[in-house]
Amino acid sequence: MIIDVSVNGIQRHLKSRNGDRLVDVLKKELGLSSLTADCLQGRCGKCLIFMDGRIVHSCLIPAFKARGSSIVTFEGIAKKPEVMDIEKAFQLTQTQPCSFCHTAKIMTIFDLLSRVPLPNEDDIVEALDMVPCPCSDPIGLIQAVKLAAELRNKRKFNREA
Ligand code: FES
Ligand code: FES
Repeated sequence: MIIDVSVNGIQRHLKSRNGDRLVDVLKKELGLSSLTADCLQGRCGKCLIFMDGRIVHSCLIPAFKARGSSIVTFEGIAKKPEVMDIEKAFQLTQTQPCSFCHTAKIMTIFDLLSRVPLPNEDDIVEALDMVPCPCSDPIGLIQAVKLAAELRNKRKFNREA
């Protein structure tokens, strides 16, 4: 079957077979390197995408359900200033994630700050829960997200002033 879908702003016609997961079709048809089909159970966060604006695990979505939707992957946001804010906050707080969860963390923080410009600790912990991370300091991460929010709001304010 052919799935018509917009991916990172480009209209695509993706080939899929019955039972295919969305993550597999996106990888196979478009070679998107930010996506990994790892746990396939919605736990590791390595397959996170935005689908019609909502962050979802693409390993849990049957490919046919994406028909007509608008998908954004990490590649679609990577150059946005909001992502630069997050990267800068990681650097300044010395919480740069390892390659295991780097992309997934950026996706979840990007999502959180788009919805909640000034998140409190509960908001941050809940958002980061999507990405299990055995090797980072949770307190440092909370500081990083707060700093990313500050940088983002400052940039926005300066532009709009
Ligand atoms: S592959 Fe692990 S959450 Fe989707
Ligand atoms: S920083 Fe290594 S798994 Fe998150």
